[in-house]
Amino acid sequence: MVSGGSRGIGRAVVERLLEEGVKVLFCGRNEKTGEEALGELKKQYGDGVYFVPADMEAKDTPPALIAKGRALFGELDFLVNNAFPFTAKAMDATYEDWIHTFMAGPAAYARMIACFSQNRKKKEGAVVCISSISGHIAQPGRWTYNAAKGAVKQLIRCAALDLAPHIRVNCLSPGWVKTDEVLKATPEKTWESTPKAWEEYHMLQKLQEPADIAAAAVYLLSDDAAVITGHDLFADSGYLAMGPEGLGKTANFAGSA
Ligand SMILES: NC(=O)c1ccc[n+]([C@@H]2O[C@H](COP(=O)([O-])OP(=O)(O)OC[C@H]3O[C@@H](n4cnc5c(N)ncnc54)[C@H](OP(=O)(O)O)[C@@H]3O)[C@@H](O)[C@H]2O)c1
Repeated sequence: MVSGGSRGIGRAVVERLLEEGVKVLFCGRNEKTGEEALGELKKQYGDGVYFVPADMEAKDTPPALIAKGRALFGELDFLVNNAFPFTAKAMDATYEDWIHTFMAGPAAYARMIACFSQNRKKKEGAVVCISSISGHIAQPGRWTYNAAKGAVKQLIRCAALDLAPHIRVNCLSPGWVKTDEVLKATPEKTWESTPKAWEEYHMLQKLQEPADIAAAAVYLLSDDAAVITGHDLFADSGYLAMGPEGLGKTANFAGSA
């Protein structure tokens, strides 16, 4: 089960799972976009993929999605919590903004994990939650998003403890990724106008592709990560490890050439 699998990182996770031979149910709010994605995925990977329109903020969505997955596959082996509101508000955040950000964000992740882990027909399972570099650092004007992403890290630790030893729960923190949301932040809403600065935010000097993040997510679900739980994997091209001097283009240190 992948939440928000019609576009962006979620779509790349769906594709990577299908490549690995895993059957996938994914959701998104926009039915047309989801059905279009479903058609393209079926054409490329065959019939083992399913879409249901759903809003992660709605009260009944988590139990309904897990029930749908069980009806299709007997049981769900993997859960990828990916859909998350990009609300970027600070002192201007309203009561409704906070409710929306947390209910569609970390609370929806938590409710999905609870439904996934209860009344299972199999013991083993694995969960990956998509967090962000924003859950680790301060960024201007982003109290809502960064606080909600920070909550994901504590959620996966508590869930990993309570669901051990049979279900592993991890999250991963991407740096900037080439998706619709990042496109909206370009000056002219085109990839050609992407600021070079974004490349300079990352040690590996690149804007990451959704497939890069999907590879990390599928690794955490796989048996190769059998001893990894309660962990936050930085899939960020070195963003969080870099200091304020950045790539060193503007800073000179004593003793350097
Ligand atoms: N892009 C980045 O640079 C970046 C960096 C770090 C972390 N992340 C995280 O990565 C995840 C995916 O981001 P993205 O950039 O791939 O986003 P995106 O391109 O905007 O895609 C989001 C996907 O989630 C669905 N979705 C959004 N809200 C939903 C809701 N309430 N209920 C159900 N589906 C919903 C969207 O479909 P509909 O619109 O049809 O609902 C779409 O399929 C998020 O958790 C985000 O915080 C992204």
